[in-house]
Amino acid sequence: MMRAFELTKTTVTYQGSDFPALNDVSIGADEGEIVLLLGSNNAGKSTFCRLLNGLVPKSTPAQIDGKVEVLGRDANRTSVARLATMVGMVFQEPENQLFCMSVEEEVAFGPENVAIPRAEIIARVEWALEAVGLTGYNARSPSNLSGGEKQRLAIAAALSMRPRLLVLDEPAYALDPTGRVDLYALLRDLRERYGMTILIAERDAEEMAELCDRMILLRNGRVVADGAPNAVLSGIDEVVAAGVSPPQIAHLSSLLADRFPGKTRPFFTTDDAEKEIADLVRATGSDAP
Ligand SMILES: Nc1ncnc2c1ncn2[C@@H]1O[C@H](COP(=O)(O)OP(=O)(O)OP(=O)(O)O)[C@@H](O)[C@H]1O
Ligand SMILES: [Mg+2]
Repeated sequence: MMRAFELTKTTVTYQGSDFPALNDVSIGADEGEIVLLLGSNNAGKSTFCRLLNGLVPKSTPAQIDGKVEVLGRDANRTSVARLATMVGMVFQEPENQLFCMSVEEEVAFGPENVAIPRAEIIARVEWALEAVGLTGYNARSPSNLSGGEKQRLAIAAALSMRPRLLVLDEPAYALDPTGRVDLYALLRDLRERYGMTILIAERDAEEMAELCDRMILLRNGRVVADGAPNAVLSGIDEVVAAGVSPPQIAHLSSLLADRFPGKTRPFFTTDDAEKEIADLVRATGSDAP
């Protein structure tokens, strides 16, 4: 199986900066994985994301040491235009990446720029709008859409390039809780239907154990944890030390483990919480306080 991306001893130092934004990072992902990049302010999440589509160093100059590979190609030797066909990028404020008069133009913009034939563009626009649940929105003005619809449009605009890797930098930032739930359902759907690899950068891990296959925890530009959500969230002290709030459910799990030593196993999803708490109630029975 091909690796979606692979960083090898990668250090990134922005021009004019005297410390690295990413520091000796060696990490990658398989195709088809949903990976969460977790870290507080300035941890290096955006730098990581922008490295994968060449914005760093091509649009923000930086010294790159080590290797950055995207879908088997050396990112340093691949043009930004070529990378744009491989890596779809969605930023935290959808407003800042929507600039066309209509939804259709917005989604067609990327493919038009790389000279894809008209008929193919029309097919891609329909496909991308369908994938994000905006079928029929073609003639609407992006500025009149709701926050959640704008974010889905930004995703459709990235999808129309048919990227194999989708990178989202704090995509839930401007969304309300319902918008978040819808967004995560959409991302799961994209992985299931198209086998896409998805990298999501976020500051908190709430609801993420259900969504992702892996969590990478960044702290001051370094990877301090990497693994299945359960493994990373079990190290709750490490997560907190990195300035990230763990999911409330993981917090509850650790509180119960302290209160009833040896009587519960760690849980990180609501389904597992329900099972563990039911078992605990049965096990403690009438002597429960
Ligand atoms: N263009 C730039 N020039 C110089 N330093 C930068 C630049 N962009 C980011 N940095 C620095 O690089 C480090 C990592 O920043 P980055 O934006 O990657 O972090 P982040 O995890 O995305 O943070 P946030 O949660 O605030 O978005 C920070 O110390 C930041 O100040
Ligand atoms: Mg950022």
